[in-house]
Amino acid sequence: MAYRNLQISNRGAVHRITVNRPDKLNALNRETLNELTLAFTQAAQDDAVRVVVLAGAGEKAFVAGADIAEMNGYTPIQAQGFSRAGQHLMTTIERLGKPVIARVQGFALGGGMELAMACHLRVASDKARFGQPEINLGLIPGFGGTQRLLRLAGRAAALELCLLGTPVNAQRAYELGVVNRVVTPETLDETVDGLADQLAGAAPLAAAGILDCVLHGGETAIDQGLEFETQAFALAFSTDDMHEGTTAFLEKRKASFSGR
Ligand code: COA
Repeated sequence: MAYRNLQISNRGAVHRITVNRPDKLNALNRETLNELTLAFTQAAQDDAVRVVVLAGAGEKAFVAGADIAEMNGYTPIQAQGFSRAGQHLMTTIERLGKPVIARVQGFALGGGMELAMACHLRVASDKARFGQPEINLGLIPGFGGTQRLLRLAGRAAALELCLLGTPVNAQRAYELGVVNRVVTPETLDETVDGLADQLAGAAPLAAAGILDCVLHGGETAIDQGLEFETQAFALAFSTDDMHEGTTAFLEKRKASFSGR
């Protein structure tokens, strides 16, 4: 399917989705939100896809936020729909059941930071900048930023970034726990590709179980989370991949996971 605002490519089991509005620093207008939701939904349904990389076109920005020009004319009811569409996209990504890596080479601001936070891993160039600058527009984050930043980095960081609205560099984002790796711009792609290849070769049902336990189990009380983990652990014993992984270890060979 052809998208107006996205580029899609595949490298083996690695599916790459690139937001492609570089002249607007990849800002998220309603159409782009809808296309991203569709693209991620299709990636979830495609068994050949084991990992997704999310990127922004051009050198300057991953995504510089929700489209301010479009929001400028919104009524509160339209804003409600926009926020819901954004939150639906972020939840779709977070609950994809497959690992999603954000490749952040430049600005990840507002909706762009929210998009990166909905991914499971974030790899940033040392030129990247992260921020929730909505307060400078008389706004607040509306695509889950207050909630995901709170959960990722804690209350102090969430309040600092959202209240001050001042972007931080990649190193500071790493120190806050928002980013998994900070690398030079020259090594960004090889780092992302290396992680994606590792995840593409991992047992997909085990990856799905880990995502489920950390994302869902982590939102419950510890006893429920632990029970959730026990059930997911037991379920892994019903898979061919668990048999293959443990047998390959005992036979001193590399496992080959089928996703069954
Ligand atoms: N929504 C809509 N358009 C955006 C945008 C956004 N969030 N961010 C950038 N753009 C557009 C600019 O309007 C400009 O378009 P134009 O060439 O038609 O005028 C183009 O992208 C390039 O941006 P520009 O501001 O000229 O680049 P810069 O290098 O001077 O500044 C930023 C870069 C990221 C600092 C600046 O674009 C910015 O502050 N963007 C908004 C960030 C923000 O508040 N995001 C949260 C939104 S809720």
